[in-house]
Amino acid sequence: MKQINLNICITHCQLDELSTEDRELVERALKATDNAYAEYSHFYVGAALRLADGNIVIGANQENAAFPSGLCAERTAIFAAQANYPDQHVTALAIAARNDNGLLEEPVSPCGACRQVILGIEDRYKKPIRIMLYGKRGVYCVSSIKELMPLSFVDSSME
Ligand code: THU
Repeated sequence: MKQINLNICITHCQLDELSTEDRELVERALKATDNAYAEYSHFYVGAALRLADGNIVIGANQENAAFPSGLCAERTAIFAAQANYPDQHVTALAIAARNDNGLLEEPVSPCGACRQVILGIEDRYKKPIRIMLYGKRGVYCVSSIKELMPLSFVDSSME
């Protein structure tokens, strides 16, 4: 019997330590929280992704009285990008969130379903997506969703 310890690599930095492009993406995610429709949770999430051609697509969570009919910010951004620019892979994704007390102190963490969808996009284009999770205390950056998803399930998992 042996124990397996998995290592994940997260860079913790401040906004002004990011490249101009990455900072812009985080700022767009922060702004996108204004577009959330979160009447039920009062948790306003914004996402902004950059495509290979430099275009930015934003998303924000959209809720519904029938709860499962809503969608997270990350997936609204990703599916909009896929529907409008299917030939462009995603290079980076920033996420930010606030509640009725303001922006979160700690970096926001994407839900499991969104992680799986982000993984699916990495797998589809065979390109890693840099991910930035905003919190007032700092930004977590990872070079791929795989950092947040050990033992993940993709097409090749079925071979
Ligand atoms: N939410 C997101 O938009 N992204 C996440 O990764 C976590 C949760 C939204 C869904 C719902 O509208 C609200 O936050 C509360 O769960």
